[in-house]
Amino acid sequence: MSKQSVAVPFTTLSLDASSPVPLYRQLYEELRQAILSGQLRPSARLQSTRELAVELGVSRNTVMNAFEQLLAEGYLEGQVGSGTYVSRALPDDMLQAGAVSVRAAHARRKGRALSSRGRVIAGTMVNASPALSSTRAFRPGTPALDAFPFDAWMKLTARHWRYPRRDLLGYGDSAGYGPLREAISEYLGAARAVRCDPGQVIITSGAQQALDLAARLLLDAGDSVWIEDPGFLGARGSLLGAGARLVPVPVDDEGLDVARGARACPRARLVYISPSHHFPLGVTMSLARRLSLLEWASRAGALILEDDYDSEYRYAGRPLAALQGLDKEGRVIYLGTFSKMLFPSLRLGYMVVPSDLVDAFKNARAILSRFSPSIEQAVLTDFITEGHFARHIRRMRALYRERQECLLEAARRELGDALELEPNDAGMHLVGRLPRGTDDRAVSREACKLGVEASPLSLYFIERALISGLILGYAGYDEREIRKGVRLLAAALGV
Ligand SMILES: Cc1ncc(COP(=O)(O)O)c(C=O)c1O
Repeated sequence: MSKQSVAVPFTTLSLDASSPVPLYRQLYEELRQAILSGQLRPSARLQSTRELAVELGVSRNTVMNAFEQLLAEGYLEGQVGSGTYVSRALPDDMLQAGAVSVRAAHARRKGRALSSRGRVIAGTMVNASPALSSTRAFRPGTPALDAFPFDAWMKLTARHWRYPRRDLLGYGDSAGYGPLREAISEYLGAARAVRCDPGQVIITSGAQQALDLAARLLLDAGDSVWIEDPGFLGARGSLLGAGARLVPVPVDDEGLDVARGARACPRARLVYISPSHHFPLGVTMSLARRLSLLEWASRAGALILEDDYDSEYRYAGRPLAALQGLDKEGRVIYLGTFSKMLFPSLRLGYMVVPSDLVDAFKNARAILSRFSPSIEQAVLTDFITEGHFARHIRRMRALYRERQECLLEAARRELGDALELEPNDAGMHLVGRLPRGTDDRAVSREACKLGVEASPLSLYFIERALISGLILGYAGYDEREIRKGVRLLAAALGV
């Protein structure tokens, strides 16, 4: 019998001693509701009657009576005294009843008002994919989890847990673990020509949190922000959530069209761009455009959010240095993430902020969620300083290039003219163009039904979608998965 072995501590139970309803009956009712609503899942082990009695401040007998009743009615199984579990096989009609009462409670709460800002945040789409838990081809942004050096990571992790340092177990610095800030600053200087000292590096829970932090801290409601169109949904969400008025600026072969932006809104407060490798089109912003953006920002007194989310993966030619390194006036806030270099659930990213903004960002970071987990930060520091990181990036560069070639070749063979896929010198995904006028969302839905993910390009446009296409992430999938994905895509496209 496979049972969950972790006892579920019940922190949300509250019993009312002044109520005429006996305490055991109140407890019975609360537990029953928790089971029916799915809050307590089938097979979950409950705390012992002794622990629960202490926690609730009631006699053990009270808890035992409630448990006995639930056992008798089939909500729980096992034996009081030797492990009690939520029944694995609850009759469907019981769960239905629970679901209905949960739905009714939601319906009652629906009238509760969100703030106008809350409504914007709640209504903003952040994820292109509905099924977040699966990592099947071709979801973009997923690195090769099958090629991660887990052995090395495990050894470094074990080293920290064997003799845990007190300073890593208590509250940490909101700007991040000092040695990690140093390692990142050194890496960014050497690899991306970013100009910073470790004091300017703020560790965040991924680039998304850095974006959110910047939006909250730098914008007043109604401030104008240039944003790439098409562009990254997460940036749109954070900017809208901070009350920004978005000014969509088109992207061509040279990146964000600065002249168009300046015509549409000459005095924007902020610009969001991904110049190394535009998401989703994959364009690298030309040097001329970078310089003209900096020049415009200087005239307009604007700040620039540079999202350098996957710049490590360049397969041909020399990478263009980060925009931040060209900035002489402290106008660029640089963002990066370990989600693409290592794995997304690590939730570690960083931002490099101009010196005069460091204290403000440190404070705001603390308000958001205090600081990122210290042991993970320390493990990552060792991973970088002991050479694993550079080795991993080198290996992934070769692997991703191979995977891109595999995708191109399979697409040429299976898809013909139905999807026009161009190679790209950088990144972890390709954009496939569909014939003019094709409804890319319908194609994507059909693909999803057949078991393959292909985000529709139109989803990322703010104004009218100018290109119909599909975004295919390839980095996270081996050659077998890529070929299978392409065959499924061919079926979805009716080839
Ligand atoms: C363009 C771009 N920027 C930033 C991020 C944020 O990544 P994370 O919050 O995982 O660091 C992503 C993730 O998909 C992305 O595609």
